[in-house]
Amino acid sequence: MAFPAGFGWGAATSAYQVEGGWDADGKGPCVWDTFTHQGGERVFKNQTGDVACGSYTLWEEDLKCIKQLGLTHYRFSLSWSRLLPDGTTGFINQKGIDYYNKIIDDLLINGITPIVTLYHFDLPQALEDQGGWLSEAIIESFDKYAQLCFSTFGDRVKQWITINEPNLFALLAYDFGVFPPGVPHIGTGGYQAAHNLIKAHARSWHSYDSLFRKEQKGMVSLAFFCGWVEPADPNSVADQEAAQRAMAFQLGFFAKPIFIDGDYPDVVKSQVASMSKKQGYPSSRLPEFTEEEKRIIKGTADFFAVQYYTARLIKHKENKKRELGVLQDMEIEMFPDSSWEVTDKVYVVPWGIRKLLKHIMDTYNNPVIYITENGFPQGDPAPLDDTQRWEYFRQTFQELFKAIQLDKVNLKLYCMWSLLDNFEWNQGYSSRFGLFHIDFEDPARPRVPYTSAKEYAKIIRNNGLEG
Ligand code: NOJ
Repeated sequence: MAFPAGFGWGAATSAYQVEGGWDADGKGPCVWDTFTHQGGERVFKNQTGDVACGSYTLWEEDLKCIKQLGLTHYRFSLSWSRLLPDGTTGFINQKGIDYYNKIIDDLLINGITPIVTLYHFDLPQALEDQGGWLSEAIIESFDKYAQLCFSTFGDRVKQWITINEPNLFALLAYDFGVFPPGVPHIGTGGYQAAHNLIKAHARSWHSYDSLFRKEQKGMVSLAFFCGWVEPADPNSVADQEAAQRAMAFQLGFFAKPIFIDGDYPDVVKSQVASMSKKQGYPSSRLPEFTEEEKRIIKGTADFFAVQYYTARLIKHKENKKRELGVLQDMEIEMFPDSSWEVTDKVYVVPWGIRKLLKHIMDTYNNPVIYITENGFPQGDPAPLDDTQRWEYFRQTFQELFKAIQLDKVNLKLYCMWSLLDNFEWNQGYSSRFGLFHIDFEDPARPRVPYTSAKEYAKIIRNNGLEG
């Protein structure tokens, strides 16, 4: 089962989840620093990313892991507040620039291609204090930050992700309030943040396009979270429509404006409008793009980046209270026969990834697709011999092979989440996604390969599965 020549095999991390060094060398605080330092049991055992995997000082150890795996690509994110401590270009922290320059140079010397995310949930606190993603001012701030990154690193970085999982982030941070800033704005905040995230992405894509592309010849996109969905009763029209709405709310919401026509899906607009009316709002809670904005947003991605973790069954539900984002107007059931229950919420459904890829191919004009994350968590303590987990990765690779060979999906790259066990947001260190195990009690933070790391290295060496 050989994959196409040149297929990319990567692993991913993000700054707050691995770096530590939260206030080292002039770094400014990000919202996760503030949020975790406030305590309040919003994160498992009030854990923080203050030290995390220590990658700020232990980058060389990470590089050894990357080389041991034989990765062709490494995806990591830049900490905005390490580069710009107060979020603005008024003061640029040279130590931060040096740190990322070293990572990029070390990768390239070793023949590994960097994929760099500009924003992975860790807004500089100074910008949150001015309204964060709820404020339109963020669009300008993000664009200036993006331009700084393109001009500083873009001679060597050719693959950029502007924003990680805006579809999940808008919801968790500004609607539910389980991510910082931790203040719920149920039914409105997610939409407002999403609207600004889309505009910020589009603006920075245009900056790249007009100021840097000619010389740097890179590609810019953003990465969507997307689970697969199936109607709970395949014969029920209501369930089928609910499943389609689920895809429209979780993926189409962002992907249609950016990849198709600059505007939200009709089903999203009508659903939010009708529910807003019932709830007595003077107009729809969903903001509208102007015609000029639609024109600017349309076509602002050079590849389609998607992150798959699980699949769900969707059942239509009458009298819904909310419609926003991920599946709020449906009852969600997990796959009862899903291959593996990971936690009480996440089930592993390897075949969902193939269906998702086909959906993207059919809906978004057969784009080049990158899977920028896919993974399965283990609890803590996690067995180093994680053969069960590997079985599901193996099945996932079979599905990817079929997607490429049989469905003719234009898939070019696969990144595993994650290189290392790391700070899993509200789950702290209790949820382990790493290819390498980390003992978070040990100040040296030794990186020890799981069985999956050794198996993944073989896949990469063979450019596919044997047999
Ligand atoms: C998506 C996020 O991008 C990443 O930060 C997170 O750790 C993984 N999924 C696992 O939940």
